[in-house]
Amino acid sequence: MQPAHADAVLRSAPRGCRIRVRAVLALSPRLPDQQLLRIARERLGEVVAHELGRIPDRRRQGHFASRLALDRALHLTGSEIAENVAYLRYSGDGRPVLVSRAGREVHGVGCSLAHTGRAGLAVIGPSDVGADVEPQHRFGLEFAFRISEPDEFDLVSEAGISPDLLPAAIWTAKESVLKATGRGMRIDPRHIRIVGRIAGGWRLYVEGGRNVPRNWDVASYGAAGYRLAIARSAGSGPVALYLHLSQPRYRGAEVPG
Ligand SMILES: CC(C)(COP(=O)(O)OP(=O)(O)OC[C@H]1O[C@@H](n2cnc3c(N)ncnc32)[C@H](O)[C@@H]1OP(=O)(O)O)[C@@H](O)C(=O)NCCC(=O)NCCS
Repeated sequence: MQPAHADAVLRSAPRGCRIRVRAVLALSPRLPDQQLLRIARERLGEVVAHELGRIPDRRRQGHFASRLALDRALHLTGSEIAENVAYLRYSGDGRPVLVSRAGREVHGVGCSLAHTGRAGLAVIGPSDVGADVEPQHRFGLEFAFRISEPDEFDLVSEAGISPDLLPAAIWTAKESVLKATGRGMRIDPRHIRIVGRIAGGWRLYVEGGRNVPRNWDVASYGAAGYRLAIARSAGSGPVALYLHLSQPRYRGAEVPG
């Protein structure tokens, strides 16, 4: 258990705005469940291992990867935060919230998680953030037409995204904002509009909905066959993205914003 003052330091994080937006994409090693659980217990602790043992088999690798990514993102954010975050709990709408070892919500440090297949994405930031990751070729053009307008298509393709990758880029951008708002699919993705280009991604605008921040910046990135999107409040600055691809080392990349 950490001393009480450590918790106070964490809770005052927003005033100094000492943290920046960091994202980690992790891929789960292809291992039998028992081995994965053992690694989870050793590296991420009993709570994560227990959680992992209870979720459906088909989601286990992605879930593990997202918790590995969260662990890495917390450490990259700083040892003070990493050492004092106990784990997660969920707000009423399902949004993950970091909890300190003293059992209190860590205010001023936003967190978002996403997983698919063997991939897990975790984002940590100084305010609300959103994460999404999908296989690059998961969606077809028909799906993209259902959730977006031609002007949105144009903005995404102008960023140099090839036509076969447009649907995943559009969807992940929108879903990352859905998650940053905490409302998820309670907001119709067609009401999250791609309205402009920024370095490394797009500006998105939320139409309608009460008490939802409207403007979000989304960094979009292709890596290891996946498309990832990281949403943060408009103007929050760049995203530092790290890839943890089964190897115990990182490759760092700056995504400007
Ligand atoms: C947020 C949502 C779009 C995520 O969809 P998903 O298919 O589970 O996709 P992802 O893998 O990308 O994300 C999963 C993570 O999203 C996070 N999440 C769930 N609900 C969230 C919410 N309301 N806001 C932000 N993040 C949320 C969780 O951390 C979850 O991972 P975990 O359970 O391992 O902690 C979906 O869960 C949702 O719309 N939830 C809220 C509304 C709801 O419950 N609707 C029921 C069906 S309409």
